[in-house]
Amino acid sequence: MQTLNQVKYLRAAINADKERGKRVALVPTMGHLHEGHLQLVRRAHEIAEIVVVSIFVNPMQFGASEDLDSYPRTLLDDQEKLEAENVHFLFTPSDKEMYPNGIENHTKVSIENLSNMLCGIHRPVHFEGVCTVVTKLFNLVQPDAAVFGEKDFQQLTIIKRLASDLCMPIDIIGVPTARAHDGLALSSRNTYLSSVDRARAPMLYETLKDIRDQILAGNRQYETLCEEAKQKLNSSGFDVDYFDIRDQNDLSLLANDAENSSVSILAAGTLGSTRLLDNIYLSL
Ligand code: PAF
Repeated sequence: MQTLNQVKYLRAAINADKERGKRVALVPTMGHLHEGHLQLVRRAHEIAEIVVVSIFVNPMQFGASEDLDSYPRTLLDDQEKLEAENVHFLFTPSDKEMYPNGIENHTKVSIENLSNMLCGIHRPVHFEGVCTVVTKLFNLVQPDAAVFGEKDFQQLTIIKRLASDLCMPIDIIGVPTARAHDGLALSSRNTYLSSVDRARAPMLYETLKDIRDQILAGNRQYETLCEEAKQKLNSSGFDVDYFDIRDQNDLSLLANDAENSSVSILAAGTLGSTRLLDNIYLSL
């Protein structure tokens, strides 16, 4: 695996492979890699001959009061994991390399309607930062495919729309959420959880599954189901940002009795000082 931190070297290295007709897949990450990321890498190997992983803790997608400074940075450990997964190129740019004129002066990419809901209400600058950095990474690497986790379902939906709206010839591939033995969705931020909160955290997925089962059993009182789920989580120590049942494709909210065949149940909230999110989707 070659680790490169400058755009010009990354491009030269990848272009050599492209000229030989190789298909390239990109896995964008912010590092502190866990099994969920490694599953993205394995999926990338299935669809391309050359796998590029990026590790960049993107300051543009963090709000002023968020965890940019404390976000775990574990490059040596991440490199070992990626070597073991036979990754070809690891791109680890600095802030200066990605935003040479500073973040404030940089061109921004945003998709307003999909971003101004769910996590976007609680993290107002987040998706603009994600869309901008992902657009840059796509332009830098020019991959044939890019792989993202379904845990961040809103992010995945937004990136699919971004690639489609901006006519980027890139297949956007979602990979099912990797989970701990007790169902908790794997996330780099899980390391922030205290032992008491770690024991409570699986309740988020338990509650999603419970609501899914009630829908599968025929309950279409979507608003009521969400209200009950919120109350249950809030009374168990969560501070719920949202618990919504939405259309899986455009993320529009489903009212009671709505007829819809592809449904996503999405939830996010804070436990202690850790923000957790998760989702389940189902076809009816
Ligand atoms: O999901 C993430 O880790 C980040 O939002 C991403 C897609 C790498 C952009 O910084």
